Amino acid sequence: MKLILCKNYEEMSEKAAFEIAELVKKESKCTLGLATGSTPVGTYQRLIDMYNGGELDFSGVTTFNLDEYYPINPDNDQSYDYFMRKNLFDHINVKKENVNIPRGSAVDPGEECNRYEELVRTSNPVDIQILGIGVNGHIGFNEPGEYLHASTHITDLTESTISANARFFESEDDVPKKAITMGIGTILRAKKIILLANGKAKHNAISALLDEKITSDIPATLLKVHNNVILICDEEAYYG
Ligand code: GLP
Repeated sequence: MKLILCKNYEEMSEKAAFEIAELVKKESKCTLGLATGSTPVGTYQRLIDMYNGGELDFSGVTTFNLDEYYPINPDNDQSYDYFMRKNLFDHINVKKENVNIPRGSAVDPGEECNRYEELVRTSNPVDIQILGIGVNGHIGFNEPGEYLHASTHITDLTESTISANARFFESEDDVPKKAITMGIGTILRAKKIILLANGKAKHNAISALLDEKITSDIPATLLKVHNNVILICDEEAYYG
């Protein structure tokens, strides 16, 4: 795992946006794997700035998001669908038909998981997958447990994730209890993975990434089997 240690959130966002921008400039028809949460917002803002400055063209780019709450309507301002529009898609020229997010409003979540998994597997492989990390070490919504899932699946959110994400909702009771998420195998198919982390709260999860152990108790440790992962983190996440 390559490490890029940054002073702060701004530098982390700058470095991540640079990696994505280099790819988009070189391969106009590339595929990006995108994440939600507060961590990648600064990266998305920099991509928007570069787009506005005429440096980037997203018209040939395809995107796949990691996950979505279930059940949730895409118009709900807490859905990841809404988040992506507000924080990135509404501000760049990516084509609607090239944007893929699991459907939180699907009637049959099992069927939706199969559809999404199939779509990821039959499309061009993700060139760069952006990941954040939960305080409990989850990636996407692959929560710690006795075992992990390889493919896109519906999952129960842990108490830790529900309370960590409650800050975005009116109350903890409003946080959906389930989500549809790419599995670990789906994520590991990406050619390159960029994991972003900032702030002291992520220190324990980041420390676990930097030793030898792989454990389903900290799902992000599974990234150690991939041969092209860059960890871009700030000093607080790295040193605690
Ligand atoms: C959420 C998302 C993850 C994200 C994580 C961290 O639950 N499913 O993809 O990486 O939590 O969120 P934040 O960046 O806000 O700390």
